Amino acid sequence: MNRENVMAVTGGASGIGFASASKWVEQGGSAVLLDYDLAAAQRASQDLGPAARALYIDVADAQSVVQAFADLAAKEQRIDALVNSAGIARPAPSSEMTEDEFGSVMDIHVNGTFRVCQAARKLLSASGRGSIVNLASVAAIAGMPGRANYTAAKSAIAGLTRTLAVEWAPEGIRVNAVGPGYVRTPFTDVLIGQGKLRTDGIEARTPLGRFAQPEEIANVIHFLATTDSSYVTGHLLMADGGLTVQGDWY
Ligand SMILES: NC(=O)c1ccc[n+]([C@@H]2O[C@H](COP(=O)([O-])OP(=O)(O)OC[C@H]3O[C@@H](n4cnc5c(N)ncnc54)[C@H](O)[C@@H]3O)[C@@H](O)[C@H]2O)c1
Repeated sequence: MNRENVMAVTGGASGIGFASASKWVEQGGSAVLLDYDLAAAQRASQDLGPAARALYIDVADAQSVVQAFADLAAKEQRIDALVNSAGIARPAPSSEMTEDEFGSVMDIHVNGTFRVCQAARKLLSASGRGSIVNLASVAAIAGMPGRANYTAAKSAIAGLTRTLAVEWAPEGIRVNAVGPGYVRTPFTDVLIGQGKLRTDGIEARTPLGRFAQPEEIANVIHFLATTDSSYVTGHLLMADGGLTVQGDWY
């Protein structure tokens, strides 16, 4: 790995996205942090030093996605790894969930991931070792009350990952997803603060008995992003402390 190996990360200003970029830079590569909070992305890139830079993207806006990758391509000739980590949560009971609450979560996660993959395809192909890592979740495989928008979106990301893996394999692009359990980031901190996530219940249900740190998910993303996983594509790798295999219901 050297500074010519580029990772592009949406949602790179914070949480899992930032930890992924940080790991890549620490291992010798360069990172482009793409986020709609440009000021936060700039601060984050400064923390990573000269091997990182920040770019504005709103993954919910097709034109912004095209523009961001045009800006990226003006400097970088290729992308070796793309991490789709931009995301939001808007929990509500299904009986009350509004069209906007459902649609905005679907748009950012599903359409956004698809838009970014399409915009990055040629640069990933130019790498010869291009790897996409999409952020799924335990919500991709569990029915979570109050999360219809989020579970639908994360399930769709798992499906999208499999199809892109098959379609783009001939172009030398691998496509995988990681399924984190609960990770301490601003994303979960906000939900905890709003009383929409109870840490004690989650810790009790998780065999490993705790939330993950973002770095623990970044390590899994790093494996999928590098040639260490050169024969893995179309896979959803759960990194959930055992949450989705918990069978202690006696
Ligand atoms: N934290 C968890 O417990 C957890 C668990 C499973 C999956 N995930 C998923 O991991 C991903 C990252 O989550 P996180 O915990 O690091 O969250 P985070 O809130 O710390 O970071 C998300 C980043 O995405 C950016 N973002 C949001 N909407 C955007 C948009 N439209 N365009 C561009 N940037 C946008 C935000 O500005 C923020 O910097 C999300 O897809 C989330 O669904 C998180």
